[in-house]
Amino acid sequence: MNALTAFLDVGQVYGSDNTKARFLRDLTSDQGLLRVNTQYTDNSRELLPFYTMDTNMCATRARITNDSTATEVPCFVAGDERSNENVGLTALHTLFLREHNRLARALADINPHWNGERLYQEARKIMGGYSQVITVRDYLPPIVGPDFIDSHLSTYPGYDEDVDPSMANVFATAAYRFAHLMIQPFMFRLDEQYQDHPEFPSPLLHKAFFTPWRVVFEGGVDPLIRGLVGHQAKLNTQKHMMTDELRDRLFKFTRYNQWRKFCGLSQPKNRYQLSKVLKNKDLAKNLLDLYGRTDNIDVWLGGVAEPFVPGGRVGPLFACLIATQFQRIRTGDRLWWENTGVFTEAQGNSLRETSLARIICDNTGITEVPEKPFLYRPRGSGYTQCEKISAFDLSPWRENAQYSHGSLGPPGPRGPSGPPGPPGTVAKVAFSVRLGNDNPKTGGAIRFHDILYNGQKSYNTKTGIFTCPQTGVYEFQFHCPIREKKANKNPGMDLMRNKSMVLHSFNTLQGSFIIASGNMYIKLVTGDYVYLVPSNGGNGMTKDCLFLGHLLFTE
Ligand code: HEM
Repeated sequence: MNALTAFLDVGQVYGSDNTKARFLRDLTSDQGLLRVNTQYTDNSRELLPFYTMDTNMCATRARITNDSTATEVPCFVAGDERSNENVGLTALHTLFLREHNRLARALADINPHWNGERLYQEARKIMGGYSQVITVRDYLPPIVGPDFIDSHLSTYPGYDEDVDPSMANVFATAAYRFAHLMIQPFMFRLDEQYQDHPEFPSPLLHKAFFTPWRVVFEGGVDPLIRGLVGHQAKLNTQKHMMTDELRDRLFKFTRYNQWRKFCGLSQPKNRYQLSKVLKNKDLAKNLLDLYGRTDNIDVWLGGVAEPFVPGGRVGPLFACLIATQFQRIRTGDRLWWENTGVFTEAQGNSLRETSLARIICDNTGITEVPEKPFLYRPRGSGYTQCEKISAFDLSPWRENAQYSHGSLGPPGPRGPSGPPGPPGTVAKVAFSVRLGNDNPKTGGAIRFHDILYNGQKSYNTKTGIFTCPQTGVYEFQFHCPIREKKANKNPGMDLMRNKSMVLHSFNTLQGSFIIASGNMYIKLVTGDYVYLVPSNGGNGMTKDCLFLGHLLFTE
């Protein structure tokens, strides 16, 4: 069973279930932030929060440094359980935690009327967009090569509900582990010149496992991130394949030839054909000495034995399996960033411009980065100053504050008169009312007493009912702060049309208030009536509850 979602939804930052997601949020303020470490910072930048566990598997410092007095720290906690597995991974988790908080703060600057829930959800959604853009555009091509990108991941075909995006076993157990062969034996740490860090040398890989203390006490994440983007991966060619290693793995997986068939590739039947597929007679002989028959070769070993596809870092079988999995993840995701209606066109254009380089610049002290962090090149050409990379354009997320429920500002100056309208009468219907008393009487429509606008007298303060004077599409909104202490169990409001409920309030907690709110377009015919009822008694509802509605257009 998969514990994580298959989607590229940044579960590594937010978790793959609601309990974890909530645990990772900073709910002490209404700013939409993720929790950060309250004990340590990295040169004033945020670190992941600590995990409190009975046994601290990250207390590795005394042993690794041979200093029994060394201060230990707990493991960090992030959306994915593996965030401490190696300290390079910890650095990336930290980077994306910071980017979420940076986005939430920037969104709050341009939309001061957004509450913490909205800020969190919008920042999370942007992070999902980033991850999808960067994975398909930058990360996968150098792995599977341009031909498999063309055949599987070129133009986005749109969402297809019949495509199963879940993880194929062969992907998780074999194909996507290709990268284990690319891991260097050191965790590189580089200084500002992308040279070995003089103060914090690069530890051996096995001394970088479960070592959050290296982030806390050894220079933070910057040297590690420079090490990840400024150093090559290990080159794994056929020359590096050792038969001893091969022997251990015999028959552990499904068969190589079955998956070659799945991918429409030839299935070598003898040593000659295998030599042709592997372009290597000795390796073919070694494999057959071990496995006896080509049909016995397991998918992992057969897969890693293949020579790389042009422009990629895996052979044709793994390129096919990886490209197929990502193709399904993309097409089977209703919320894929390019799917219609997920982002606006302008937001999509911003996302198209995102880059890992910019995210590094925005969230670390690093001032110079490789423009294409997934393609290694030594420092020099291809590296750029952060100030030359344009900032992520958040302006398409700016929302007109008129849709908020904050207090109204002073009226603006009168604008110039508009051009003459079309002949005929244009229907106008609008009302806006405030409750005016706490704890309203219940047992029917809530009666809002204070009229802010009721030009067409469509809202009746005696009955609490809006009666539609003109057939058309209407928008209704309500927003009600309810004192949590006084509220009944499961408080809230229901928007009713005639005698049926059309919308139950969306409730969020803000300080000691539960905010019940809702917004809806409804088609009405003349004489229909619309009103609000409390879903569970009116206790705790405050006089500031608002209810508004207006005609959008006639059809
Ligand atoms: C220092 C780097 C890494 C270390 C130490 C590491 C270690 C591990 C370990 C211990 C496992 C569990 C093995 C098992 O129980 O079967 C694992 C699983 C896996 N690793 Fe890595 N890994 C590293 C990097 C990577 C990278 C870069 C990738 C892919 C790009 C990757 C892909 C996978 C996959 C797909 C699995 C299987 C996950 C699952 O079953 O859900 N690993 N890794």
